[in-house]
Amino acid sequence: MEPKLKLMELVAIPVLLALLSLSNKANAYPRVPCYFVFGDSLSDNGNNNKLPTLAKVNYPPYGIDFPQGPTGRFCNGRNMHDFIAQLLGLKDNIPAFVTSKGRNIFNGVNYASGSAGIRKETGSNLTLYNYGARKFAVYGIGQIGCTPYAISMYGTNRPGCVLKLNKGATLFNNRLKPLIHQLNNNLTDAKFTYLNPSGDSALATLGHLVSNTPCCTIGGGGGELCLPHSKSCKNSSKFIFWDGAHPTEALNKIFAKNAYTSKSPFNASPLNIQQLAMW
Ligand SMILES: *[C@@H]1O[C@H](CO)[C@@H](O)[C@H](O)[C@H]1NC(C)=O
Ligand SMILES: *[C@@H]1O[C@H](CO)[C@@H](O)[C@H](O)[C@H]1NC(C)=O
Ligand SMILES: *[C@@H]1O[C@H](CO)[C@@H](O)[C@H](O)[C@H]1NC(C)=O
Repeated sequence: MEPKLKLMELVAIPVLLALLSLSNKANAYPRVPCYFVFGDSLSDNGNNNKLPTLAKVNYPPYGIDFPQGPTGRFCNGRNMHDFIAQLLGLKDNIPAFVTSKGRNIFNGVNYASGSAGIRKETGSNLTLYNYGARKFAVYGIGQIGCTPYAISMYGTNRPGCVLKLNKGATLFNNRLKPLIHQLNNNLTDAKFTYLNPSGDSALATLGHLVSNTPCCTIGGGGGELCLPHSKSCKNSSKFIFWDGAHPTEALNKIFAKNAYTSKSPFNASPLNIQQLAMW
């Protein structure tokens, strides 16, 4: 049981990332000098590979659509931050903390670690502002009650999702938003923004995709990860979920675009990432 509980945390926490703006040149391209990522398995790109944890996926069929194969991304291909880094005009993917060294840390580092959680001692410190970070994109929690694993664990209420998990996510998001606005009021030389890239307008575009079945054969990790070397569906871009808990590359691309460009205050408030980068 214990591994199962731990692995549910894979998706049950928000992704937090910061855009460090040390030299903010107006029309320069890329749009930000560097990009630092903090989060859980939705953002991990290899940090867990050598850790003694069930929450790692450096085996096929993970990475079947990624040029280097399995990298530790919890996905068939690229994750949302790979797409956002591309939209920001950054040349390369942001390196995982475990593999980054030398000058490449100046472009950013990805510290995300599958199964990471929120702790008082990590959340209470202005984890980054004091070191010069001035642009913060903070992600709310997506509809975690709609993942195939959650549905198989808890059963569904209509319309096909576990309502109590989605309600918990909404509760969290509803309190996160005012906190972001407080931070903007208190720290006027920095900008924080709240993002919910799986929000209303993103989901509205997904009607044509398979939502109730994952693309790969699950049972690995605590139950929601792909089984090592198992078969996966023919065309993952027709699916919302890659495994029992994580979206496909196709969905990550939609979410990244939404976080980058959404004009809806429900999904991006007060700014989307494009506006944050230009701020
Ligand atoms: C915050 O970080 C500083 C050093 O950067 C440290 O001295 C302090 O103990 C931290 N506070 C908390 C609550 O973690
Ligand atoms: C903002 O400042 C007010 C007044 O000093 C303080 O009560 C509040 O906790 C601060 N909020 C944050 C998120 O730092
Ligand atoms: C996979 O599905 C997408 C979306 O329906 C389609 O555009 C693409 O051509 C398909 N790829 C293959 C190899 O069938």
